[in-house]
Amino acid sequence: MSQLSTRALAGFEERFRREPLGVWRAPGRVNLIGEHTDYNDGFVFPFAIDRSTVVALAPREDRTIQITTSYSEDIVRIALENVSPDAISGWSAYPLGVVWALGEFGADLSAASGFDAHIDSDVPVGAGLSSSAAIECAVAVALNEVWGLGFDDETLARVGQLAENKAVGAPTGIMDQSASVLGHKDAAVFLDCRSLRAEVIPLGFEAAGLVLLVINTLVSHAHATGGYVDRRASCERGAQEMGVPSLRDLEVDDLPRASEVLDPETFKRVRHVITENQRVLDTVRTLRLEGPEAIGGLLTASHASMRDDFEISVPELDVAVQSALYAGAIGARMTGGGFGGAAIALVRTAELRAVSEAVLAAFASHGFERPDLFTVTAADGASRAD
Ligand code: GLA
Repeated sequence: MSQLSTRALAGFEERFRREPLGVWRAPGRVNLIGEHTDYNDGFVFPFAIDRSTVVALAPREDRTIQITTSYSEDIVRIALENVSPDAISGWSAYPLGVVWALGEFGADLSAASGFDAHIDSDVPVGAGLSSSAAIECAVAVALNEVWGLGFDDETLARVGQLAENKAVGAPTGIMDQSASVLGHKDAAVFLDCRSLRAEVIPLGFEAAGLVLLVINTLVSHAHATGGYVDRRASCERGAQEMGVPSLRDLEVDDLPRASEVLDPETFKRVRHVITENQRVLDTVRTLRLEGPEAIGGLLTASHASMRDDFEISVPELDVAVQSALYAGAIGARMTGGGFGGAAIALVRTAELRAVSEAVLAAFASHGFERPDLFTVTAADGASRAD
């Protein structure tokens, strides 16, 4: 049993004075490439990481739900029939949002038992590594089994997204929950966000002597407000003015027309999405044909596009990327929604130390808070843990 599962089990027993039926886990994710393309019906290429959220859970005889977490002393208590987006808030909006969303997807909640659940996690919060999708998917797989719902992985990902959109209030796409549910050891998930067709593609980092370094800037962000919402609106405007259902329907050849039709700012937003979709396709092809050493330039080009065209980077992310590249990383980019969070750098194992030290030194010399540095590997998606 993993250390995290053991901790969740002990946390459950301490709070509820009984044993859970089981422990379920769902990982966070790193997006290798394909940013702000998911809600434009485009392509993404994320992988599930070896950091997870776990939920220890046991059904109850009555219809009460009680949820606790390792992060707070609170017990959230609510009757199953009262769970709705309007009645929930704070951290419990994630797990309870999933309860509600399962009902929206057809689970018969009037026949369901209440439950006690305790949540623990080692996915850093606010780092752009999808700690929220990890909670949603862990609860979704747990209840899918305990309530005998029989939903497939794709539906569970959509349940998590609905919870995030309507209960948490963040208008995010389908990428994070898909990665958390569909992830595979040593592989990334190439997802077409229009058809939801997913292909698992081996990464081969270890065999190529590479590691993926995460640089968590500790600049925190929230997607329910601010820049994320604005960018999404710009994309919708761009698609409408270009006369297409979504930006997925445009290609690099459409850029000259886009520059005539759109205002300069919307054009830049649209150019990011169009070129980023192409970079995802190029990354998948390059990985297959030439191996992971050859994808570095595409990762770095993605960062430049987010910094200059989509304008969602922050100085800390730019310094992380530049200093990692300067010290020998073969590619680097911010990952996730932007405005803070983490950057990733693909690094030769032998150069990991030099790159890490260079990043720390660059942060210190800019007077930035010391970032949190760690490596991640591609892990399996959500499942019963123990
Ligand atoms: C966040 C959202 C995702 C996606 C990314 C940007 O992580 O949750 O749906 O839009 O930002 O690529």
